[in-house]
Amino acid sequence: MSRALYGRGGYYRAGRGPGHDFRTSSTVAPALLARALLGLFARVHDALGSGAADLVEIGAGGGHLLAALADLAPPQLRLCGVEVAPRPAGLPARVRWQASPPPEITGVVVAFEWLDVVPLDIVVDGRLLPAATGMVEGPPPSAVDTSWLDRWWPGWTQGWAEVGSARDHAWAAAVRSLSAGLAVAVDYGHTREARPGLPTLTGYRRGRPVPPVPDGTRDLTAHVAMDSVAVPGLPTALLRQADALPALTAPPALTALPALTAPPAPTAADGTAPQSLQALRDASLRARLLDPQGLGSHLWLVQAVGMGMPSALIG
Ligand SMILES: C[S@@+](CC[C@H](N)C(=O)[O-])C[C@H]1O[C@@H](n2cnc3c(N)ncnc32)[C@H](O)[C@@H]1O
Repeated sequence: MSRALYGRGGYYRAGRGPGHDFRTSSTVAPALLARALLGLFARVHDALGSGAADLVEIGAGGGHLLAALADLAPPQLRLCGVEVAPRPAGLPARVRWQASPPPEITGVVVAFEWLDVVPLDIVVDGRLLPAATGMVEGPPPSAVDTSWLDRWWPGWTQGWAEVGSARDHAWAAAVRSLSAGLAVAVDYGHTREARPGLPTLTGYRRGRPVPPVPDGTRDLTAHVAMDSVAVPGLPTALLRQADALPALTAPPALTALPALTAPPAPTAADGTAPQSLQALRDASLRARLLDPQGLGSHLWLVQAVGMGMPSALIG
């Protein structure tokens, strides 16, 4: 999985991914998401004062969210994308783009659908999936993976288990890069009470799920154990996107639908959409971000460093 996604000629090195083979919240409705993140940043600013000046996205993909933030954010907010893929063409100049997080971030670190593509080990009936080893039966998991499984994946010795320790380490490093502020990981995932009984490891190509063959031609992704990822000892909130977004964006921005009266006929001669059509488009994008069966079910893990959890995110 590591080589297929991040090795030389790997899937993500080529700058493919979101917007090509699959959609994410950031590609579906970047401006709406940007507004919610600015709501989050405003709360950090309230808590920390003018020292809060960074918004860093880890796993920034095609830069869709940062481009929307560049349009909306005040000029003093420093925007930075951390990515293994090349800088997207046309990204506004104010957005920095680099391979590792800047030191001493004060503000917000956010990662949308990053952890689900951090490579992981698969254990079947107590043994590592043998594909990578060429053996008929794989070896037992490492000591680190075994202690993770014992703690986080009940019944792992029988059936399929997706080991989250590599994701935990990746997230812990991201949180360490934050001097003060909020770190937010958003992903499809599960918690200990409801681990999936069946594989969630899958491939994506041209908008469709495909078998997870590690050949560099497709995305490879598995749901994230969002509870194990949380760094212990920090103020923490875990909530669904359907709850997080309305909480961060002043109502009725994300929740209200426009009145369902017939919109006036489009008349704008200059090609701009009449206001009623814009409102309808926004409402449909909001509905996609909040859909409880879709993007709305994604989990927001929010962790606070050097400040308390904003009251809007406490359930
Ligand atoms: C599934 S995509 C999501 C992109 C974007 N956040 C979105 O929601 O549209 C995950 C991205 O994380 C990037 N990525 C994975 N591991 C990374 C790492 N260690 N550092 C920086 N970027 C990474 C991949 O290259 C890929 O672009």
